[in-house]
Amino acid sequence: MKLKDLKVVIVGGGSSYTPGIVQALIASRDRFDFSELILYDIDNQRNDDMLLIVEYQIGKEGLEHCITVNATSDPKIAFTQADFIFSQIRVGGLKMREQDEKIPLKHGLVGQETCGLGGFSYGLRTIKEILNIVEYVQIYAPEAWILNYTNPETIVSEAVRRAFPRIKMINACDMTISIEETIARNYGYDRKNWIPVYYGLNHFGWYKSIYDKSLDRDIMPEILERLKNEGLKVASFNEGDTTWQEAWEMMAKIVTNFPDAVPNNYLEYYLYSEETVEKMDLNYTRANMVMDSRERRTKIMAEKIRNHVGGNILDFNFGEHGQYIVDMAVSILNDDHGRYMLIVENKGAIPNLRDDAMVEVPSYVGRTGVEPISLRFEIDDFHKGLMEAQNAAEKLLVDAYFEESYDKALKAFTLNQTVPNANVAKKVLDEFIVANEGYWPKLK
Ligand code: G6P
Ligand code: MN
Repeated sequence: MKLKDLKVVIVGGGSSYTPGIVQALIASRDRFDFSELILYDIDNQRNDDMLLIVEYQIGKEGLEHCITVNATSDPKIAFTQADFIFSQIRVGGLKMREQDEKIPLKHGLVGQETCGLGGFSYGLRTIKEILNIVEYVQIYAPEAWILNYTNPETIVSEAVRRAFPRIKMINACDMTISIEETIARNYGYDRKNWIPVYYGLNHFGWYKSIYDKSLDRDIMPEILERLKNEGLKVASFNEGDTTWQEAWEMMAKIVTNFPDAVPNNYLEYYLYSEETVEKMDLNYTRANMVMDSRERRTKIMAEKIRNHVGGNILDFNFGEHGQYIVDMAVSILNDDHGRYMLIVENKGAIPNLRDDAMVEVPSYVGRTGVEPISLRFEIDDFHKGLMEAQNAAEKLLVDAYFEESYDKALKAFTLNQTVPNANVAKKVLDEFIVANEGYWPKLK
């Protein structure tokens, strides 16, 4: 494996998350020596805008002579001799995210990008594109590592597991880091001292314990108490974001009712679907919010650079998102054995759950890849039941993709725990088939 002069590809280069990844790459240069950065995107306009921003970032650090940056929509140019590939695509863009959210919501169901039927719509759209990307990597850079952020992660990684079981791909989500960071900042801990034990599916899991090295004890019991009594406020990296503030409030509510484990906040959509629907606005969902904030700010940055506006024009949220994926790449390269929550094939990690489920568990990351830990305890019936239903629904959805089966899709939709009956499942499925024309496989 090459250790210097690395070529890094950001797939979905035009994404408004790219500046955060680039910032993290720049900050990690002493341990991650990259000299070529490619933004790969099928949307040339967005990608060219992002190229301006990334060149500006690199120039600002005086690194333009050590790092070349290019934008391309040609997979051969992008992937040939690549060492690390960061994938963060959003098939159909925010326009289709809006559909994913609004179609179920119209029927009184949760309208969310990764949870509920919106996540299933997004999943069926994304599988084909992610498989294409993996195939390009097989052809042009078979030795490269793919670090995948693409949502909905369990569905995407389940499809890749079936089609390319041996691919060098790491599936990661920053949500557990964000949960931990938010909790730590609210209650005055330092997350760097933590060794958390967590299990679940992606956006669907629980902490078992959180050992704090500096305090030499499991602090989960005291965190649970504080969640119940003090609630949780949005941390500075998400300041002013009402959606996230509501999510943290719901997390405190989950703990009040189910006080034995710190949950992933996304469980609110399954455990309190009605209440989350009541808070949503059919005319203005999260997709609209993101278009009006992150997307808008990105366009303004590119415009300013194009027009040679002076001063500091960089305006993006440098949160955990970019840092997390770069840290993993650093851990591979330097054989650090850093510990991350990753989405892997279960194979006994959770002993009383089917072996072929894609689960999210603590894993060590080093030069040879991912070493998931075996939890060696049985999860309780409540968590197990919830996970099994969700996992079966996701597996049926992936079956529906590969078999182009309407029957499997309807079963998946009906089994999703945000759905009260098969009538509404069918209505939403039929509407999604129309909305996803050209994206979904033709279901027979
Ligand atoms: C977290 C999740 C991601 C998700 C994102 C949504 O980071 O882990 O999977 O995509 O939140 O954020 P947004 O601002 O786009 O609603
Ligand atoms: Mn995620």
